[in-house]
Amino acid sequence: MAFIKVAELEDIGIGQGTLIEHDGVTIALFNAGGGRFFACSPTCPHEDGPLAEGWLEGDAVVCPWHGYDFDLTSGACRVAPGLSVSVYPVRVNGSGVEIDLP
Ligand code: FES
Repeated sequence: MAFIKVAELEDIGIGQGTLIEHDGVTIALFNAGGGRFFACSPTCPHEDGPLAEGWLEGDAVVCPWHGYDFDLTSGACRVAPGLSVSVYPVRVNGSGVEIDLP
């Protein structure tokens, strides 16, 4: 595990997500504003919705397909306790956004 720069700060608008690919790993990255970013696995475990196209509500991402939301600090689904996504540590370093990739 190591923090890898995957984006510039200005690449992702506040409240938005984007899909990041690095060395064959695909991750959804979100800018929550105030220098806070979150990263999670990109595919919704409900019916494979694209989480990077979802939107943030506080510290959770809402899947654009059926509205299930996932806590981006724990990965837990708030409406279906049996579902979860993987979450990854994110940090800002200078003008870059870095993810601790598996
Ligand atoms: S596919 Fe994400 S909520 Fe259904």
